[in-house]
Amino acid sequence: MKILVTGGNGFIGHTLVRHLLNEGNEVKVIDIKPIKFTHPKLEFVKKSVLEDIRWEMRDCDAVYHLAAELGVISSDRRPLNTLAVNIDGTVNVFRCALGTGVKKIVYTSSSEVYGEAREIPLKEDSPKSPVSIYGVSKLAAEMYSKGYVQEYGMDINPVRLFNVYGPGQGSDWVMPIFIQKVLNNEEPVVFGDGSQVRCFTYIADIVSGIEAVMKKGLKGEAYNIANTDQITMKKLAELIIKISGKKLNPKIAGFGKETRAREREIMTRVPSIEKLKSLGWKPEINAEEGIKKTYEWYKSNLGKEELFYE
Ligand SMILES: NC(=O)c1ccc[n+]([C@@H]2O[C@H](COP(=O)([O-])OP(=O)(O)OC[C@H]3O[C@@H](n4cnc5c(N)ncnc54)[C@H](O)[C@@H]3O)[C@@H](O)[C@H]2O)c1
Repeated sequence: MKILVTGGNGFIGHTLVRHLLNEGNEVKVIDIKPIKFTHPKLEFVKKSVLEDIRWEMRDCDAVYHLAAELGVISSDRRPLNTLAVNIDGTVNVFRCALGTGVKKIVYTSSSEVYGEAREIPLKEDSPKSPVSIYGVSKLAAEMYSKGYVQEYGMDINPVRLFNVYGPGQGSDWVMPIFIQKVLNNEEPVVFGDGSQVRCFTYIADIVSGIEAVMKKGLKGEAYNIANTDQITMKKLAELIIKISGKKLNPKIAGFGKETRAREREIMTRVPSIEKLKSLGWKPEINAEEGIKKTYEWYKSNLGKEELFYE
């Protein structure tokens, strides 16, 4: 198979690309940032997903579309760029794939599309009510994917990823922030009262989930990809401290102007993964095991910013 990965130089993208290469595929990466490694079966194209990429798609069988302007905070800072890359860029990927040999596209959407849960657990057809520009952009692109499935018969699967973490994740995300604080003998700062519930999902499970959808996903269907081990933010900080063996306590910071506004916080994010499980996939790495692996990675690589993905 020849596979195109957009955003292949990102945190999730580079792990996916290495996995696809290990499986013997030819991989082409489109990203605005140069890829950090070489491989005989890897081709890198420095381009934006906002450009014409029909030529790059002509000989590809499948596309993983990951390129995005990421995260709630940075997309608040750069709202127009977020809308452009995440909506126009995604529609451009669908548009450019028309009439090529591309048989399937998996588009990485986000649990942010659900906003505050109206029901627990969140099923794929649960109400969507994003509270961030980022979440709105990911949902809008999902809706365009439906249009391309219906209008042109394309096969596109949005996958909604839940709180991804693992080695190499850039320093803007909660897991590396907490881990690096603890490694520096500082208290991890927990916003609110720490009772926010999340299901953190280890990068290897995300990659196997995305691949399962590429191989077996039903045409046009969206899938949650997540671990279902629930943990509060306070417990997460305590678990990282326990793993470190240090004598520290999380600092409970509350909500406010200096930290995070209450209305922007999602209090409970718990997925149902039954739909993807019905295709034979399940997460393999439990929270404690994944967090230990991640902690050890940051311990060995503390300060080596060149190894982190932004
Ligand atoms: N990390 C998470 O927790 C998480 C959760 C849910 C969904 N997702 C989704 O998964 C995907 C990958 O996330 P990630 O964590 O690897 O992010 P990342 O920021 O590490 O990677 C994104 C990549 O996209 C590239 N990119 C940005 N704009 C581009 C453009 N115009 N053209 C081409 N490339 C461009 C960046 O250079 C980067 O390499 C994204 O679509 C994201 O929305 C991530």
